[in-house]
Amino acid sequence: MIPYCQHQIRDEDRRAVSKVLDSPRLTQGPMVQAFEQALCGRTGSAWAVAVSSGTSALQIALQALGLRPGDEVLVPSLSFLATANAVLLAGGRPVFVDVRSQTLSVDPADLERKITPRTAGAVLVHYAGHVGEIGACRDGLGAGRFLLEDACHALGAESEEGPIGSQADAACFSFHPAKHITTGEGGAITTRSGTLAERCRRLREHGVERDRQRWKGLGLPADVSSEEEGAWVYEMQTLSGNHRLPDLGASLGASQLARLDETLSARRRIARRYDALLGSIDGVELLAERPGTRSAWHLYPIRIDPARFRGGRAAVYRALHDEGIGVQVHYIPIHLQPFYRHRFGTRYGDLPNTEEAYLRLLSLPLFPDLAEADQDRVVDVLSGHLEKLRR
Ligand SMILES: Cc1ncc(COP(=O)(O)O)c(C=O)c1O
Repeated sequence: MIPYCQHQIRDEDRRAVSKVLDSPRLTQGPMVQAFEQALCGRTGSAWAVAVSSGTSALQIALQALGLRPGDEVLVPSLSFLATANAVLLAGGRPVFVDVRSQTLSVDPADLERKITPRTAGAVLVHYAGHVGEIGACRDGLGAGRFLLEDACHALGAESEEGPIGSQADAACFSFHPAKHITTGEGGAITTRSGTLAERCRRLREHGVERDRQRWKGLGLPADVSSEEEGAWVYEMQTLSGNHRLPDLGASLGASQLARLDETLSARRRIARRYDALLGSIDGVELLAERPGTRSAWHLYPIRIDPARFRGGRAAVYRALHDEGIGVQVHYIPIHLQPFYRHRFGTRYGDLPNTEEAYLRLLSLPLFPDLAEADQDRVVDVLSGHLEKLRR
């Protein structure tokens, strides 16, 4: 089977993890901070807070941005469940926005249309690693509303302004093994705001406030008030859970991050090859980088026109799986999931571009170690079946 994604583990990764295994700290040790510093370097942001998943990163960032119960947050539906679920987990209400049919990125005009007095902000997903319209979304949102980047696909991507991760109020990354670098499970929030980073750090760990200057006290009676000074004392001021990334994961992530340029250029080379090999197939649409930006090429999605091929995308998916090629579909629109349909009354017809894209999308194998011969096989098998299915 040629999978659609495959993480890469090298000897330097094994050595990095093994060093932590032989150290006194498997978690809450020095590697998390080292990884965070390296992430700041790569994303051009002043602060990074490593957490246990991309989902936790989104939830924490939204809470830190000050989401209040009932606040609406605009999110694309063409994304992984986590993008909308995180809004609910943070106490807000997701409101779905359509994508542009050409780029599959949030449509700033639809974003603006869906703003209400309850809109607190928006989440912009850099779909497949392609850079979304950060400036236009920010302008559309206007002052007083936040823009959060869901950059889980986009580590190493570059907009006109520089690396992704430092341009909106905050950005969230995922280090699941399908992504550019992995920590096993893991994620991070990056931001230019020290205040926001501090809130994220508190939310990462049960809402515990580490800075004694900010403590409010435990309310002990006067005769034992000196107990408040004890070195063991900790203080919780907000409700949160445990979203920590262990040092084991952080050491793996730091080791992988050190060769991000290499893995990005492998992804870009493979994407360019697909572009060249598939560009002229009638009825198949490729996804292009927006001019002036560089994609991180997390995914290589193509769109198959159901009017041109019998059985449409589903037939192509089945045929490729039958021949050992693990293509995938990214994503089932979140607003069509039963949970969202029942809770919010969303339905087919709400987001025409998202729904049309969903019925056509197919992600081809793309990962740094994909051999040229395997890529050729993907292209040959795909082209062969498309010809067989052509109307
Ligand atoms: C766009 C997007 N957002 C959020 C997430 C959640 O990340 P994680 O799986 O690390 O929780 C993912 C994961 O696949 C994703 O693709």
